[in-house]
Amino acid sequence: MGYKVAVVGATGNVGREMLAILAERAFPADEVVAIASRRSLGTEVSFGDRTLKVKAIENYDFSDIDICLMSAGSAASKEWSPKIAASGAVVIDNSSCWRYDADVPLVVPEVNADAVVNFRKRGIIANPNCSTAQLVVALKPLHDKATITRVVVATYQSVSGAGKEAMDELFAQTKSVYTLDEIAAAKKFPKRIAFNVIPHIDVFLDDGFTKEEWKMVVETKKILDPKIKVVATCVRVPVFIGHSEAVNIEFANPITADEARELLRNAPGCLVIDKREAGGYATPYEAAGEDATYISRIREDPTVDNGLVLWCVSDNLRKGAALNAIQIAECLINRNLIQAKRKAA
Ligand SMILES: NC(=O)c1ccc[n+]([C@@H]2O[C@H](COP(=O)([O-])OP(=O)(O)OC[C@H]3O[C@@H](n4cnc5c(N)ncnc54)[C@H](OP(=O)(O)O)[C@@H]3O)[C@@H](O)[C@H]2O)c1
Repeated sequence: MGYKVAVVGATGNVGREMLAILAERAFPADEVVAIASRRSLGTEVSFGDRTLKVKAIENYDFSDIDICLMSAGSAASKEWSPKIAASGAVVIDNSSCWRYDADVPLVVPEVNADAVVNFRKRGIIANPNCSTAQLVVALKPLHDKATITRVVVATYQSVSGAGKEAMDELFAQTKSVYTLDEIAAAKKFPKRIAFNVIPHIDVFLDDGFTKEEWKMVVETKKILDPKIKVVATCVRVPVFIGHSEAVNIEFANPITADEARELLRNAPGCLVIDKREAGGYATPYEAAGEDATYISRIREDPTVDNGLVLWCVSDNLRKGAALNAIQIAECLINRNLIQAKRKAA
């Protein structure tokens, strides 16, 4: 018998992607349950070639759930994840609510899969922020080879990273521009996003950085190495799916662009597209719907002793959220860290 899996936030961008990936990968689930807020009760979501009726979280009994894939935002996770974990399910959470808790592993399987073993204290495993996930996948093989000391990263983040209403806002504003209609006031973003870029994601902190930038620093340290210094500038761009990053990396030891290209070619989760010609690099358009972290434009940085510069692109809804969560669940199963309750009974 397989596992009983709950997808909480099943009507959202990440939840829908989770259902698609569970079906694609033939995840060993006997039953998958779609759950969201009361607002969505009875609506239908796709799961492979079937549809599932959405259940409301308030009335759902989690006692026979083995794995709960949670993508319903921080407030819902704060309230529900501990209750769901207490009922005996392992919760794999996509919000930022638990990421910085010392008793919650923060996992990107290509980088720190071994950390999953520490999930029992709270019964919760956290997924990183979407920008961090693809960054650490690209950094890990380079760090293993030449020891990264400092990373400077600028992100170009798609609107799907801010949820389904944010995608609607870009769509509606873009349409209004073409139809010469008045553009409705921005709701999900602080300024108009259509035909614009916004250097502000999440709230501002006292030091002038935004919380999104802070998350990239703290999460990279927790997942990869606390000694690595990171500084980030996070920018929202009018792209529907796929986050891009321009990354400057400094190392303790020498590493050439050719060595880096070869290492990344053989690294799990990475796909190198790096021809030094027009179109010989990845863009978010190609990354959307794909699992890989694409790496392009690898070159040596002539302004520091041991430095590389690269361009990195990935589907934020997949590697940045849904795929990573499902890979964590697969890690737990492959390492025999969880048992199906119905099998055990
Ligand atoms: N999008 C990304 O790239 C990305 C990457 C990493 C992490 N995340 C995180 O993943 C989470 C979901 O993001 P998203 O982009 O999928 O957002 P979204 O498209 O806005 O969807 C939110 C989902 O959460 C549900 N929900 C909201 N409040 C709830 C509650 N109180 N109880 C139960 N369900 C509730 C919604 O249900 P209704 O439809 O019923 O309202 C919907 O299914 C967020 O924490 C986000 O920060 C997102």
